[in-house]
Amino acid sequence: MKELHAHLNGSISSDTMKRLMAQKPDLQIPNGMTMIEKGKKRRLEECFQMFQIIHQITSRTEDILMVTKDVVREFAADGVKYLELRSTPRDENATGMTKRSYLEAVLEGIRQCNEEELDIEVRFLVSVDRRAGSTVAKQTVKLAEDFQLSTDGVVVGVDLSGNPTAGHGRDFLEALTEARRAGLRLSLHLSEIPNREEETKLLLDLPPDRIGHGTFLHSSRELVELVKQNRTPLELCLTSNLKGQTTPSSDQHHFGFWYRMDHPVVICTDDKGVFATDLSQEYQLAADTFQLSKEQVWNLSYEAIDHIFASSRTKTALKERWQALKPSML
Ligand code: IMP
Ligand code: ZN
Repeated sequence: MKELHAHLNGSISSDTMKRLMAQKPDLQIPNGMTMIEKGKKRRLEECFQMFQIIHQITSRTEDILMVTKDVVREFAADGVKYLELRSTPRDENATGMTKRSYLEAVLEGIRQCNEEELDIEVRFLVSVDRRAGSTVAKQTVKLAEDFQLSTDGVVVGVDLSGNPTAGHGRDFLEALTEARRAGLRLSLHLSEIPNREEETKLLLDLPPDRIGHGTFLHSSRELVELVKQNRTPLELCLTSNLKGQTTPSSDQHHFGFWYRMDHPVVICTDDKGVFATDLSQEYQLAADTFQLSKEQVWNLSYEAIDHIFASSRTKTALKERWQALKPSML
C-alpha cells in the first residue's frame, strides 16, 4: 500500500500517546481528547481542538523525533511500502523548539528509520497551516525550499491544511506559487466543507498536483469539470470524513462519485491516531462499502504509484514490486 495523506501529529498511536503523556504528568489531559473511538463522531471544529491538545503533548524536539519514528514504524508494520508524511513546522516558546528544529527532528526521525532498514520508503511534505496566515506561509515555503536542497529528495512538496474555516485561499497563492517555482509539488486540502467554490477555483488554478479530500467538489459542476480536465488525483480518507461528520455515511462518501467516473483516487488515512484507523482498514472499508473485488483493490493500490511525488525511478521500482506481489494478493 502507499499512504499519501498522513498528518504527523494526527497519526500518533495510543501507545505512543501513553508514553508521551507519562513524561508530562502536569498536563492532565482527559481521556478521549486525543482519539475518537470506534463508532464515535465529533464535529469538525472539535477535531481541530484535538490537534491543539496533541500539540501540547508534542512540544519538544525529542517528542517530534519519537513520534516520527513510531509513526513510520507503524505504517511499515501495516504493510505500507511508500509513505508521504506531512507536518506543520511549529515554534514552541516554552521549550525553545523552532520551526527549523522541528523539521530537523522530523527529518532525523525519517533518517533513523532508514537506517533500521524497515521495508518502507518515506518522503515528506511541509504543511502550510491556513490559520497562521500569509506571512507564515511564505516563511514555511522558504524552509521547505531549504530542506528540499539539504535532504536529497526526502522533502518533495508542500501541503495546504489546517482548519478550513480559517483564512482564505487567496492568502496562500503567493507562497504556493513560489513553492511550485522551486520545484516542490503541491497537495492542497480543498472544499473540505461546503460553499468554498470561489476559493477552490482560485487554488485549482495553480494547479495543485493532488487534492486532499475535495469532499464538496461535486456540488459544483464547474469544479468537477476543472478537476476532471487536469485529472488531478484526490486523496480520500473515509473514516476521517465520517468521524469528522463531513460525510453522512460511508456509502455516500464521494469515493463513489469519483471512482465510478474513473477519476484517479488514492485511499489514505489522514490522521490514523485521531481517527483510530490504519490504511488496511481504510482499504477494507472502501472495498466493503463499494463492493470492490480483490482485483479492483489491487488496481487502486497500484495506480496510486502514478500519483506519488517521488522520482520516476522510485515509481518504476514500486511498480515492479507491486506486479511481483500481485499473484499473492489476488
Ligand atoms: P501536524 O501538522 O503534524 O501538526 O498535524 C496536525 C495538523 O494537521 C492539524 O493541526 C491541522 O493543521 C492538519 N490537519 C489534520 N487533519 C486535517 C484535516 O482533515 N483537514 C485539514 N487539516 C488537517
Ligand atoms: Zn488532511
